[in-house]
Amino acid sequence: MLFSKKQKKTRETYHVPTHIAIIMDGNGRWAKKRNLPRSAGHAVGCDVFERIATYCRDLGVKYLTVYAFSTENWKRSQEEVLAIMNLLRKYLDDAVNTMEKKQIRLRFFGDMSRLDADLQEKVRQAEEISSRYTGFQANICLNYGGRDEIIRAARQAASKCMAGEWTLDDITESSMAELMDSAYIPDPELIIRPSGEVRTSNFLLWQSAYSEYYFTDVLWPDFSPKDLDKAITAYNGRSRRFGG
Ligand code: IPE
Ligand code: IPE
Ligand code: MG
Repeated sequence: MLFSKKQKKTRETYHVPTHIAIIMDGNGRWAKKRNLPRSAGHAVGCDVFERIATYCRDLGVKYLTVYAFSTENWKRSQEEVLAIMNLLRKYLDDAVNTMEKKQIRLRFFGDMSRLDADLQEKVRQAEEISSRYTGFQANICLNYGGRDEIIRAARQAASKCMAGEWTLDDITESSMAELMDSAYIPDPELIIRPSGEVRTSNFLLWQSAYSEYYFTDVLWPDFSPKDLDKAITAYNGRSRRFGG
């Protein structure tokens, strides 16, 4: 069930965003409510990602960017970090088959150099193998921070200038955008944060300049296609002026 009757009527005027971004938050609280270890929340969160990615693809969304692990999340207990990394390992091992079945291109945003070597290699392989699928792309943010991304881009720009490849005038909004992890991908029209927190937590700082935000109290492991419909409906009611 995709649209309500009323929504079906206005289907022609209903705009599905090209790029949706989601801060997948609330796994820990979901687990706590059930007296389960936090890792159980992350495991269910991983399945929900699969389900929502497939739903986005079916809706005609072109890009889905999800926040899976931030540059700040290393501050968590060693046990929790290890559980998340092992979940990622398992996800990447399965990803090759899943991506083929679903025809999903996978890309990873963030600084992969801090991940274990085997994980870096699995990430590289998943990107390479899925690069032939052009219909829908999921970007997974791992060891990602918006500030870190801007710093990495600034360093690249500075080294181009020092090498004489660029002059200062070559540093523009569009040339900097191409140095971000999201190079050549349009900015997200809609950013969703479940779990009741109302902050960006260092997500897509550069790309979110004119994104519409949607916040909901639903915890990520409970987030369903219906909740995504609600977010898209809210987005459709927004008046985007871009300062004009
Ligand atoms: C989001 O869920 C997943 C990661 C940050 C890895 P949390 O683990 O932050 O869950 P809460 O916010 O503590 O409920
Ligand atoms: C943001 O959630 C990061 C991810 C969902 C991966 P956090 O749970 O880490 O953010 P804070 O601590 O609530 O700001
Ligand atoms: Mg959280």
